[in-house]
Amino acid sequence: MRIPTGIEGFDDLVQGGFLTERVYLLSGPPGSGKTTFGVQFLAQGASMGEVGLYVTLLECPQNIINDMSNYAMNVPTLIKMKKLLFADLGPRMEYGYMDELSEFISPEYNVGKSSIESEAPSPSVVFKEIAAYVSEYEVKRLVIDSVSAIRFTTKDMSLQEKEMSRFIRNLKKLGCTTLILSEMTDPTAYSTEQFAAHGVIFMHNFLYDKTMTRAIQIIKMRGTKHDCNMRNVSFNEKGLKVEGYLD
Ligand SMILES: Nc1ncnc2c1ncn2[C@@H]1O[C@H](COP(=O)(O)OP(=O)(O)OP(=O)(O)O)[C@@H](O)[C@H]1O
Ligand SMILES: [Mg+2]
Repeated sequence: MRIPTGIEGFDDLVQGGFLTERVYLLSGPPGSGKTTFGVQFLAQGASMGEVGLYVTLLECPQNIINDMSNYAMNVPTLIKMKKLLFADLGPRMEYGYMDELSEFISPEYNVGKSSIESEAPSPSVVFKEIAAYVSEYEVKRLVIDSVSAIRFTTKDMSLQEKEMSRFIRNLKKLGCTTLILSEMTDPTAYSTEQFAAHGVIFMHNFLYDKTMTRAIQIIKMRGTKHDCNMRNVSFNEKGLKVEGYLD
């Protein structure tokens, strides 16, 4: 079954929307519209009665709620109706708290409970927390912002790859339609996340003919006949809007 994403002009590129219970990866540079796409996707589901969960790992949810409330997505109302949920699963400790504790923290790197607690949680810890939310609130649409925050919890590259593939494999069993956001550093470097996801979408924000241009591109979408070209993207009062081909 396909569900509408809520992004104007996008569903026409993918045979009508996302397939349910699949995991999609949305990757893009800073400010390219990843968060907007994610909240729009959840707001669309929430307005149809499907509970949406936005998991933040980098940004505090209140900032995202404030920014997205500028758009006509009904974010505050959907939150009040408990159809749109935000969960902060990022590092727990604020700097102020750390400063107060500094005299108790060992000067040695990685020694002392407090410094460990302040680090990014591992993919398995994050997954268990997400799974608990999904089952308690019967979540149907899930956004994780962003996977880059938990990718680097170990320095061992092969372990990172294994952990990410395990994380995505487990997400596929949750029973919700999931959108993972990731920070794009090198568009030509393929990552485990891209191979493991059912679909991969790139957001672009680049200098083109002396003008900064926003675009979206579907890299892969399993089981779907899709458009592969770059399409212009703009922001309007409802959020992101996909337009015609890049000239
Ligand atoms: N009302 C608006 N009209 C036009 N553009 C806007 C508006 N509000 C925000 N923007 C643009 O949206 C960008 C932020 O979009 P968004 O937060 O979805 O991007 P992101 O890819 O999640 O960024 P980050 O990498 O920082 O998380 C802003 O940098 C700005 O350029
Ligand atoms: Mg963002």
